[in-house]
Amino acid sequence: MRETQAIIERVRSVNETHQQLDLAVEPALAQMRPGQYVLARVGEGWTPYLREPWWYVLSGKGSLTVERPVTIDYEPGQVVSLLGAVGQPFRFRRTLRNVLLLVHETEPSPLLSMIPPLLASRVSVTMVLLGSAAGYTTAHLPPEVEVISGDSDMNWANRVTTVGWADQVFVVVPQSDELGHFSRIWDLFGQLRAEIPQGYLFGVFRPLLPCGTGACSACMVRTKSGNVLACTQGPTFDLTQVRLG
Ligand code: FES
Repeated sequence: MRETQAIIERVRSVNETHQQLDLAVEPALAQMRPGQYVLARVGEGWTPYLREPWWYVLSGKGSLTVERPVTIDYEPGQVVSLLGAVGQPFRFRRTLRNVLLLVHETEPSPLLSMIPPLLASRVSVTMVLLGSAAGYTTAHLPPEVEVISGDSDMNWANRVTTVGWADQVFVVVPQSDELGHFSRIWDLFGQLRAEIPQGYLFGVFRPLLPCGTGACSACMVRTKSGNVLACTQGPTFDLTQVRLG
């Protein structure tokens, strides 16, 4: 992982809440894999703020498309300092037919990069948007993605079937009280399934990342086999292995 500079080439809004930025990046960075991301700082020179995680949704030859909230102004031509690729890719099962993406009270951006390769491998993708996540409109997503909305109490239509049919589930929750939210998801799946096997239910952990390089230990996650770092070993962990309580 190293620091490089990128240029914002295009900015377009994709729905009422989010915009996508096309970035010209170094070729090596465009080879990021789904699950990885970059830590970004806009503009040149020192700032007191932490770099922000930018989640890519598409990669191309020398380009990355990232998704950002519309509340922040970006202009074509702006220079962005990127640190990356950060983290480890999503770990998919070898035999995979159905993937469930669960978005609870947050934005789905961290999960979107897996959609094009999964669809290209003929894996079906269902996205469940719960609570405030249902405000994220999805007309810009590939039409093959089945989108279901639900409430903040995690009720949605055909819940038992959706959960039973998924080979793997990837969950994203608000950054505040991630463990509390993941615990609720864990309890729900415990009610809906006879068992939660290893390699089935994954949480994407997004703590603040002061360094992003494994140097400060601020992003520690407690697992059954010891402490791990969300920045270098995450962001995605098997919830059967995480100490949620
Ligand atoms: S952010 Fe510093 S070790 Fe992860």
